[in-house]
Amino acid sequence: MNILRFVPRSLFFRLSLAVSLVMVVVFGASSYITFRIQSEQSLSATKTQAILLTRALKNTIRIGMESGHTESLASIFQTVGALPGVEKLRVFNEEGKIRYSMKPSEVGHLTDELDYTVYRSPERSTPFQSETTGHRSFCMVEPIENEAKCQRCHPRENEVLGVLDVCLSMGDTEKSIEYNRFLLLSFTWLAVILTSALISVILKRFVTAPVERLARTMESVEAGKLDVRVDIRSGDELGRLGGSFNEMVRKLSDTRAELEKFHHRQLARADRMASLGEMAAGIAHEIKNPLAGIYGAAQVLVNEFPEGDPKREIVGEMMTLIKRLDGTIRDLLNFARYTEPQFSRANVNEVIDKVLFLVQQIPEGKRARIVRDFDPAMPEIEMDSEQMKQVFLNLALNAVQAKPDGVALTVRTRGEVPADIPEAKHRSGYVMASVSDDGPGIPADRIGKVFQPFFTTKESGTGLGLSMTRKILDLHDGWITAESGSGGGATFTVFLPKVRA
Ligand SMILES: Nc1ncnc2c1ncn2[C@@H]1O[C@H](COP(=O)(O)OP(=O)(O)OP(=O)(O)O)[C@@H](O)[C@H]1O
Ligand SMILES: [Mg+2]
Repeated sequence: MNILRFVPRSLFFRLSLAVSLVMVVVFGASSYITFRIQSEQSLSATKTQAILLTRALKNTIRIGMESGHTESLASIFQTVGALPGVEKLRVFNEEGKIRYSMKPSEVGHLTDELDYTVYRSPERSTPFQSETTGHRSFCMVEPIENEAKCQRCHPRENEVLGVLDVCLSMGDTEKSIEYNRFLLLSFTWLAVILTSALISVILKRFVTAPVERLARTMESVEAGKLDVRVDIRSGDELGRLGGSFNEMVRKLSDTRAELEKFHHRQLARADRMASLGEMAAGIAHEIKNPLAGIYGAAQVLVNEFPEGDPKREIVGEMMTLIKRLDGTIRDLLNFARYTEPQFSRANVNEVIDKVLFLVQQIPEGKRARIVRDFDPAMPEIEMDSEQMKQVFLNLALNAVQAKPDGVALTVRTRGEVPADIPEAKHRSGYVMASVSDDGPGIPADRIGKVFQPFFTTKESGTGLGLSMTRKILDLHDGWITAESGSGGGATFTVFLPKVRA
């Protein structure tokens, strides 16, 4: 079972909880270890006291005995017994009967069973704990051996003359251990509470508050408000995150503004084109019918003149010009008519190949040196192949017309927009095809106009080729750019989406 499920989903709460837990464990463990060491030290000090007191008393008894001052022993016992912490002080004989005691009333009674048992055991002469006095004490039983000097007064067969029985109360030691425990616990809790509070304040100030501000700002951005910025000035990771976020929102906002502008322009252009188209179609119709009449009249006229008559030739010339005019009007009508592309999957490389074959049939095309730099990995995409042929035919014709005596025409296709194309960033998901020539190029003041309908610098040009091209690409959700270097040469680049929206 995942315990974290029950913890509130707040970063601040979880961090604070984790820090507090670590703190409780660390402080708790260190306090416990300190407490244990102090307790051990207090106990071992009481133990040492018991040993020292027993040894000192044993020597005092021995010296008293040797000097024959046995009567002073009772008063020594009472004086030492009155010292704080001394709980039991007596001498009992081999049978356990008390001979001397700090409490004279005990003399003649049997000593405590435990003391006697310890005396009888091999571990005598080491301190042991006893509770015979009602609470814990450190005791020691120390036999007073019958040494050579003693045998002046005591019979030689008595091995032990008496057993010194000393108990020191552990009451004071336990009280001080208890007090230490209380102090340590209080300080541990105080330290945990204060440190946790301090860390919580720091966390809130430097982590959760900025993160919350960032989250709120992100929500605003998500809701479409791109003028908001997050205000995190710290130079740490969060500060950097805030900075990058602001930068991202700024770029997003710029891109949106650009896109809106672009759409605006597109709409305005579409509007202009539509009215222009309507106008062109109207004019074309107005002209087309009378033109048919004129052509018919010219046909009648031409038969009026005999073969070889120069007038017949003039009328023939007239008829050719009328045909050309009719062709231009047909182009105009085609241009004006909003033809929906018939989409099917096709490969741009193949479309261009067919166009280049056509171009090579005209004299300028025959003289051109054509370089095909095709991407073999060009994917098939959805397009109207006929309209796309029109696009590349317009571009290729313009190129050969720019330098009729032998243009170097390079056609480059790429399945991915290459990184060296300035627009590569915005054009992922597009294929690219460019048509470059080494003709005179397009002057900077003219390059903005080449896509306008009827803009032409050619005597017999209609100026509709590039505007038609752009219209077809619009219908394909594509795009065309024109570039021309100062040293001449022009490059037209077409971008087409790989997947139709
Ligand atoms: N490769 C090029 N090199 C130099 N100028 C060019 C090139 N392509 C286009 N232009 C310029 O752009 C103008 C417009 O071209 P567009 O194809 O729209 O019409 P056009 O070629 O003049 O007429 P049409 O296409 O009807 O023959 C051209 O007249 C020419 O000035
Ligand atoms: Mg043209």
